[in-house]
Amino acid sequence: MPAAPSRMLASDNLAGAHPLVLDAITRANAGHVLAYGNDDFTRRAEAAFNELFDRDVRTLFVYGGTGANVLALASMLQQAECVICTNWSHIHVDETGAPERVLGAKLLDLPCADGKLTPGQVQAAAGARGNPHHAQPGVVSLTQPTELGTLYSPAEVRAICDTAHELGLLVHMDAARIGNATAALGGNRVALRAFTVDAGVDVLSFGGTKAGIVFGEAVVWFDPRRAQRAEYLRKNVTQLHSKMRYISAQYEALLENDLFIDLGRSANAAARALYDATRHHASLGLTSPPAVNSLFPTLRDPAKSRLQEWSFFWDWDAAAHQVRWMTAWDVTASDVAAFAAGVDAVLVDAPKF
Ligand SMILES: Cc1ncc(COP(=O)(O)O)c(C=O)c1O
Repeated sequence: MPAAPSRMLASDNLAGAHPLVLDAITRANAGHVLAYGNDDFTRRAEAAFNELFDRDVRTLFVYGGTGANVLALASMLQQAECVICTNWSHIHVDETGAPERVLGAKLLDLPCADGKLTPGQVQAAAGARGNPHHAQPGVVSLTQPTELGTLYSPAEVRAICDTAHELGLLVHMDAARIGNATAALGGNRVALRAFTVDAGVDVLSFGGTKAGIVFGEAVVWFDPRRAQRAEYLRKNVTQLHSKMRYISAQYEALLENDLFIDLGRSANAAARALYDATRHHASLGLTSPPAVNSLFPTLRDPAKSRLQEWSFFWDWDAAAHQVRWMTAWDVTASDVAAFAAGVDAVLVDAPKF
C-alpha cells in the first residue's frame, strides 16, 4: 500500500482547530471577566451575528451540537407537540434520544430517499392533527446540508417554511455544517441569508465545531421575541457555559471575514477532488459530484476492510455496502492524492461488481 494520507477522511469532526481560532482563545485568556456571557467577547460575537444576518437576531452560545438542537427545539415546542424530521436526521438517529428525553417530545421521523423533507410530507403530517391520542406536530426540523450530503435549495426551504407557517408550525434548521452549505450555495452572506432567514427559518443551530473551532455551537432566533425564555432554557437544558468568553471569542474569529465560509469551501473542494480522483472505479458507484464535503461510495470486503485499516473511515449503510468519506477544512490536495492512490491499490485486484 502507498503511504496513508496524514489526515483521515472519516469525519470533519476529526480535524483540529483553525490557528485564527486558537489565537482568539489565547487573546480571550487574559485577565478576569464576568462569567456566563456577561463579557465583551460575547457582546462582540452577538453583534457579529447581527451583522451576518443583517438584522437584530438573538444568539445564544452552547457547548455542543446536540445541545444546540435541544435548546432550539425547547424554545419552539408547546406541550404535547412533536417534531417533524426525516428518518436520517441527526436529532432522530445520532443524539442518543436526547431530544426525547430532555424535551419529553416525540420525534415524527418521516422516510426520505435523499435526506430531505418535502412540503407534501409536512402537509400530510400536520393534516393528521386533531386526534387527542396523537402528539401534535408543532415544529419542522430540517438539516442543511443533510446527513446524506444533499442540500435544500433556498426555494425548497422557502416552500417548506411557507407550508409549515400556513399550518401554524415553526421551522428549525440544524446547520451543523453551515459553512459547507453556504460555500456550495453561493459562498457569501447573501447566499447564507437566502436559505435561512430569507427563506423563513425561525430558529437556526449554527455549527462551529466542524468548521474549525475547538467546541461550542450557536443558536440563532431570527425573531428575538421567540427567544424570550431561551436564556432560562439554556441553563435548564444544561447548556450554559460559565467561561462563555472562550466560546464567544471562537465565534468572533469564525465570523470575521467569513472564515467559516472559506473553511467550508476548502472542505467541499477536497471532496470534489476526491470524487474526481476515484470516480473512475465504477464499483464505487460515484455517479455525481458531491454537493458538499461527503461522498458515499459502495465498497465491499476485503477491499473495504483493507482500506479502513490503512486509513480509517466509517461504514454508512451496511445493507447497501455504503461507506462515508468526509473531508474536513484542513484536508489538502496531497491527502486526497494519497487516499486515491490507496483506493487504486486496493481496487486494482478487487472483484468487479
Ligand atoms: C447534522 C448534525 N447535527 C448536529 C451535530 C452535532 O452533534 P454533537 O452533539 O456530537 O456535536 C452533528 C455532528 O455530527 C451533525 O452531523
